[in-house]
Amino acid sequence: MKILIVGSGGREHAIAWKVAQSSRVDKIYCAPGNAGIEEYAECVNIGAMEFDKLVAFAKEKEIDLTVIGMDDPLVGGIVDAFEAEGLRVFGPRKNAAILEGSKAFSKDLMKKYGIPTAGYENFDNAQAALAYLETAKLPIVLKADGLALGKGVLICNTLEEAKEGVREIMLDKKFGTSGNRMVIEEFMTGREVSVLSFVDGKTIKTMTSAQDHKRAGDGDTGLNTGGMGTFSPSPFYTKEVDDFCKKYIYQATVDAMAKEDREFKGIIFFGLMLTEDGPKVLEYNARFGDPETQVVLPRMKSDIVDVFEACVDGTLDQVELEFEDNAAVCVVLASEGYPVKYEKGFPIHGLDHFKNRDGYYVFHAGTKKTDAGIVTNGGRVLGVTAKGEDLKKARENAYEAIHWVDFENKYYRHDIGKAIDEA
Ligand code: AMP
Ligand code: GLY
Repeated sequence: MKILIVGSGGREHAIAWKVAQSSRVDKIYCAPGNAGIEEYAECVNIGAMEFDKLVAFAKEKEIDLTVIGMDDPLVGGIVDAFEAEGLRVFGPRKNAAILEGSKAFSKDLMKKYGIPTAGYENFDNAQAALAYLETAKLPIVLKADGLALGKGVLICNTLEEAKEGVREIMLDKKFGTSGNRMVIEEFMTGREVSVLSFVDGKTIKTMTSAQDHKRAGDGDTGLNTGGMGTFSPSPFYTKEVDDFCKKYIYQATVDAMAKEDREFKGIIFFGLMLTEDGPKVLEYNARFGDPETQVVLPRMKSDIVDVFEACVDGTLDQVELEFEDNAAVCVVLASEGYPVKYEKGFPIHGLDHFKNRDGYYVFHAGTKKTDAGIVTNGGRVLGVTAKGEDLKKARENAYEAIHWVDFENKYYRHDIGKAIDEA
């Protein structure tokens, strides 16, 4: 088979690595890809939003299956564009990707179908939102409706902060058109867990759990980022939690989408908070998580191409999804100053240390191949993943392996997986 992967981050590197394990795959392409993905795939210089060019490329190369990694093209309708030309593609159509593309839509869906989530109101004008705040309980959470690179969520402790937040989102359009509508929701406390799942429209099969670290600094301080590190499984995701989510959240979401004539095929990523009143949905994503994928896929035993195809064909009920009984930790190596301002173009040394080392992986996020070798090319540069027999061992291994690679302005969190000690 020939596979095309659309995307260019650490997530797509992990997907490309996993697809390359499949005995059914002869050739992998990635658009646009990155310097690490080149080890498994031929990278082609087409952007993820250039649907016409991607469709033409898939036709020309007779691609058997295209896998979409990123949220923007999914929400923009890339799957519809491929299907319109009779091409096989893994991911939700535009009318289903709205599960991630509009927070107002997903909140209304959860309310309508009784799926546990924080109490909320949707607003499409700033005046009404500001008036609502006068009587709301603090702290309070403001969310721009649309995609905002994970940055459109503001947690406000005072009424003044909240009012300023509404103005930023709806009037100043800090997150662009994402802020034409917004959700104001109740603040929840508890542990966060990410659960990724494969969905074929009817059947849902969850992958092993993970936890992300979204803040830039140690001790969960500093700005929100795309994710600074992950561990899998989450020790807080117990059998009891899993049973609850299976009963009230996972299948309920898939069924709700089907009832709304928005059949969902692809990945649903459940961002959950384990509150005192039980698990609740923080958010849905319509794609693999980054850097959750970098700890989940290395632990997956099943052939991922079989699972992708079963999702497209609606035969997921016939697939056995298996994970290793171990653990993995991923530490993101970023450029000093991320997520605000950082320099690029520094040579990366030591990548070869990861060759042929079982259980250790270096997934590229922001890297570029130059005549002088591979250089840094983004805020998040690499994700170093290590497996271990348990979480503590995996964490020890990951923090050993981050020293195998080096580049100027290398920055990372020292406390990825600290929560493990509290389990
Ligand atoms: P989201 O993009 O919706 O996942 O929000 C980003 C982050 O904001 C989450 O990972 C949480 O840490 C936090 N967050 C979002 N919604 C809430 C909420 N209702 N209560 C507390 N924290 C929240
Ligand atoms: N790691 C969070 C996300 O992919 O949205």
